Amino acid sequence: MARIIAIANQKGGVGKTTTAINLAGSLAEQGYTVLAIDMDPQANLSVGLGLNPRTIGRSMADALVDADVSIQDIVMPTQTAGIDVAPSDIDLSATENQLFNVIGRESVLREALGAWADEHYDFIIIDCPPTLGLLTINSLVAADSVIIPVQTQYYALKGFTALNNLINQIRSKGLNSRLRILGLLPTFYDSRTLLARDMLDELRELGDHHVFQSMIKQTVRLGEAPLVGRPVTTYATNSEAARAYRGLAREVIELG
Ligand SMILES: Nc1ncnc2c1ncn2[C@@H]1O[C@H](COP(=O)(O)OP(=O)(O)OP(=O)(O)O)[C@@H](O)[C@H]1O
Ligand SMILES: [Mg+2]
Repeated sequence: MARIIAIANQKGGVGKTTTAINLAGSLAEQGYTVLAIDMDPQANLSVGLGLNPRTIGRSMADALVDADVSIQDIVMPTQTAGIDVAPSDIDLSATENQLFNVIGRESVLREALGAWADEHYDFIIIDCPPTLGLLTINSLVAADSVIIPVQTQYYALKGFTALNNLINQIRSKGLNSRLRILGLLPTFYDSRTLLARDMLDELRELGDHHVFQSMIKQTVRLGEAPLVGRPVTTYATNSEAARAYRGLAREVIELG
């Protein structure tokens, strides 16, 4: 059985996609098989794993709305051994509207994943878009757990209540009672700034949710990553960023 982890935060640019790519990279490095699912019409995950948007044929847009297309049909291998990707493209933004009229619209991804993905992969990592709409809801309904990257550069907990409420509703309405918050992941951490240190203290003091020991520092290594098309663990193996994401993978495995 695959472990299914969604990476979510409706705030844009907090490191969701970077975390999806590099958590996948760190897990693959350990010998696990990973399916990375791109649920964002921006397709940053697909491109960040080396896919050329022009050569993406069918995407999650098809797998979610076309009864004749399954996830299995759209999955593509990546340049990184152990990682396959279910790509996205811009059509996925129209999909969100189409889903609106579907009965069981919150559970479409969960049903599309089915037994095949469960049997073929150790981990399924879902990269969510920066919204709390149906694409994110479908990701949370399909997942066992969610990792919430939190940018430690400003008062980043501002939007957290809305996401937390959504997760609670998904649980209480029976859409996915097993969903749990695996942890909050501090990102863009800069230990030189007081604000970042305050933010981190505040996250930890909040106490309601696990905060990962691993912290992702602000680094050009990750800023350049989208151009490389591979996880940082493969092209800057000994960088601090690679080590931090390996640490996250270790924590994720330990949390079970
Ligand atoms: N720790 C980091 N240090 C420096 N740059 C980073 C770091 N993490 C991510 N970045 C860069 O910041 C930008 C935003 O990161 P990313 O795309 O992972 O965020 P996101 O939450 O997925 O954004 P969106 O909400 O648009 O999907 C990217 O250009 C990425 O390369
Ligand atoms: Mg993203």
